[in-house]
Amino acid sequence: MLPIYIETFGCQMNELDSELVQGQLTALGYQFVPRPEEATVILYNTCSVREQAEQKAYSRIGIIGARKRAGENLILGVIGCMAERDGLDLFRRHPQVDLMCGPGELDRLPQLIDNVRRANAAQNLNFSEPLAIADRTALAGNRSRRSRTLQAAEDNLESLDLSRAFDPDSTSGKRHSAYVRITRGCNKFCTYCVVPNTRGAEIHRPPDHIVDECKRLVDAGVIEITLLGQTVNHYRYQHGSAVTIDGRPAPQVGPGLSAFRTSSARPNERTTTFADLLARIHDEIPALKRLRFITSYPRDFGDDILSVMRDSPRICRYLHAPAQSGSDRILKLMNRGYTVGEYVEFVDRAFTMLPDLCLAGDFIVGFPTETDEDFQQTCALVKRLPFKNNFIFKYSPRPGTTAFDRLKDDIPESVKRYRNNKLLALQTEVSLATHQQWVGRRLEVLFDEVRTIRATPQKEARPLRVELSPISVNGRELKTACAMIPKVSVTYQCVGRTAGDLIVASNCNNEQDSLDFIGKIVIAEIVAASPLLLTGLLPHRHDLD
Ligand code: SAH
Ligand code: SF4
Ligand code: F3S
Repeated sequence: MLPIYIETFGCQMNELDSELVQGQLTALGYQFVPRPEEATVILYNTCSVREQAEQKAYSRIGIIGARKRAGENLILGVIGCMAERDGLDLFRRHPQVDLMCGPGELDRLPQLIDNVRRANAAQNLNFSEPLAIADRTALAGNRSRRSRTLQAAEDNLESLDLSRAFDPDSTSGKRHSAYVRITRGCNKFCTYCVVPNTRGAEIHRPPDHIVDECKRLVDAGVIEITLLGQTVNHYRYQHGSAVTIDGRPAPQVGPGLSAFRTSSARPNERTTTFADLLARIHDEIPALKRLRFITSYPRDFGDDILSVMRDSPRICRYLHAPAQSGSDRILKLMNRGYTVGEYVEFVDRAFTMLPDLCLAGDFIVGFPTETDEDFQQTCALVKRLPFKNNFIFKYSPRPGTTAFDRLKDDIPESVKRYRNNKLLALQTEVSLATHQQWVGRRLEVLFDEVRTIRATPQKEARPLRVELSPISVNGRELKTACAMIPKVSVTYQCVGRTAGDLIVASNCNNEQDSLDFIGKIVIAEIVAASPLLLTGLLPHRHDLD
């Protein structure tokens, strides 16, 4: 069994990809290890969304390069979005990289690793040339946006999702929560974003495959499923299409933004919309306790989806719907396809239908040409809506995107940093106010983590003198030992999330009590709030179940 290590950067799509890759390689006899030092094969599943994300991966690649130069016999693979974006340039600049595999080609990864292993073995015996680049790369390259039907029919990745390991012990991560992909790729082409290039065209998975995958996960003990797509509400599957794979329905390429200009959900009994999909999963899998989805696109989020959410108690009242900017001028330059007014209308409509909703989002500051006035409008939007949190990013120009080609990155780093900090501070105030609204209520919390907090109280910081009685080893009595140990208090805390994705921390009596809450949905009484989390009181352990 070859020891293998994988580290994942970037978004939840990448986390799911890593899990699928892990399942696939485990089935082939590889053994995953928790540290790169223990591994012979090292995989970095990379992200290209901002330059900083790429820098992290490059520094890891540098470390492996040093180990290889020191004589270690390692195989280094770079997979995911950075492999796709950098293409063969990465090989040229980093000869320590043995193989590369884009996110659209991951089903070919085992073959690539195998190629490198065999070539290395042959080379050690001096009877082989180095492996050709074609045998150690799988990148979609300019194929990634080829003809629609072809792309969908050639979507081998469907087999990767379908071959998922359902034994909860064989996967990493949290055993009671899982991601399920509904849409791959993206057709929106926001001008700053690499994702349409790295992940290719938007492809919708057949609803039966999705429902079946959810069922099997729930059978394996999963109680919370998060559906994944770059713009989940644009999910749409046309039934009766001519394209099949081995007689089974094939994934389908989604339309562009313009297809949604007329109506968000055209009634068509042969189409499964996102609302239909949510209703099917909710109704067909009663043992699924929580159904959530990310990411919502602020346009075309129809009342049909909100009604299904309202009528389905196990669908979480949570929306992650990035606004990106509060300025119409900037939104237009970003090609986001909505105005601030439309964003606010959508959020207001959602809160009217779902009063308990929790809202989160993303903003980019320092987009090319962003003026103080534009930024003030972004601040005004953050103040106006009850966001529970927002991820705030400084604009990072990405080669291959329209903004990179057409707009100068003209906002100085110092201004980006200032706006980033300013918006963060504002969001902190809004987060606190939003969290405080929940104090005094009882909320269902799914706990998934135990934290230990070690504190040495100031007053009692004086060390205790502990006398240890004499001990004898092999008949020889050792000297009486004497130790000085500081008095430390340890608190066990379990941390989990509400259906609205609010983080709740609760103190427990001891380690065993805290472990008992993990993987369970427990009602906690919310007694305090901070900008990042709620404090909850838990029932006594004997009240559980
Ligand atoms: N599909 C999702 C976003 C996926 S990328 C959506 O449309 O909402 C996650 C986030 O990264 C984006 O919401 C955006 O805020 C940020 N982002 C993407 N490209 C970026 C760039 N070039 N610079 C800074 N932030 C970026
Ligand atoms: Fe990127 Fe826009 Fe697609 Fe989101 S919707 S992945 S930001 S192109
Ligand atoms: Fe990054 Fe690719 Fe996700 S660029 S954010 S890993 S889709």
